[in-house]
Amino acid sequence: MKTIGVLTSGGDAPGMNAAIRAVVRAGCESGMKVMGIRRGYKGLIDGDMYEMNLRSVSDIIHRGGTMLYSARCPEFAESEVQDKAVEVCKSFGLEGIVTIGGDGTFMGARALTLKGIPCIGIPGTIDNDISSCDYTVGYDTALNTIMDMVDRIRDTTESHDRCSVVEVMGRNAGYLALNAGLAVGATCILIPEVDYDIDSYIIERMRRTQKTGKQHFIIIVAEGVKGVEAKSLAKYIQEKTGVESRATVLGHVQRGGSPSVRDRVLASQMGYQAVQLLKNDIGNRVVVVSKDKIVDYDIIEALNMKKTIDLELYKIANEISI
Ligand code: ADP
Ligand code: F6P
Repeated sequence: MKTIGVLTSGGDAPGMNAAIRAVVRAGCESGMKVMGIRRGYKGLIDGDMYEMNLRSVSDIIHRGGTMLYSARCPEFAESEVQDKAVEVCKSFGLEGIVTIGGDGTFMGARALTLKGIPCIGIPGTIDNDISSCDYTVGYDTALNTIMDMVDRIRDTTESHDRCSVVEVMGRNAGYLALNAGLAVGATCILIPEVDYDIDSYIIERMRRTQKTGKQHFIIIVAEGVKGVEAKSLAKYIQEKTGVESRATVLGHVQRGGSPSVRDRVLASQMGYQAVQLLKNDIGNRVVVVSKDKIVDYDIIEALNMKKTIDLELYKIANEISI
């Protein structure tokens, strides 16, 4: 391939810049022209792209967000819109694209590959909800951000003998909530993957713990847990236990910030590997980390894989955070 593109799509994640940098540098070093496509599939359809060089990606490895911007473009699921994108690729001489995003981004990458433009996917999302991949780019940074934020919340919670209910992101998955919950020593963790009963899990646990002398509590709730809203849960806890309670929805602070070492390294490895595949005219693959190794899978095979949450970790968290 002589010319390839790179884009970021869907919710941004810390480490996307490190992945872009790796793609651009590895592409240029292989003698290819690398086009940066702005705002994901939306920019691709609009032909919003520019040629990048080794220096275009200087000074970004440590920055959160994505220098190529991101967008959600639901119409990209339509065949005619994909046809338009293929025409744009042809007019710019794009022979392959590295797409950085989540499952939807990979569906778009597959569609383009089937229509003649080989694409490679790199998992970039804080949610860690890509089944073929042990750790997505952005997940580790988001976990550390949550941990840092909840440590701060703990300071004030403890000073006032309160209970803090903290809602964290993760879409329909509980990876962020479970791992951050364990790391901050939360008394209770609500995740979508586990059924719960508020009275027996939260209220009874709090009462039991109160008897041992504990007077402040952190409850972590994943946003994907159906029927639980942080503010009403805090109110309910206060009514039932008499412990003054507050709710915090962490929100988009979880998506920003300088990427962690792990995310930078992962993103660099994946970006490099994606270019090696395109160099060999291979498309329709996702580059992931599995059992500490960078591997690649067919996109559909990857999308059909199942990843389960670590229930042993959940058990440990519950047993020791009491
Ligand atoms: P997020 O979960 O943050 O929305 P995704 O990676 O799941 O990120 O989706 C990003 C983009 O991928 C969507 O906005 C859309 O442009 C594209 N996309 C989603 N689903 C499909 C699909 N079935 N076919 C083609 N493209 C899709
Ligand atoms: O997928 C990343 C994510 O941050 C989810 O955790 C969250 O549910 C969603 O995106 C928020 O999306 P938006 O940026 O559209 O508010």
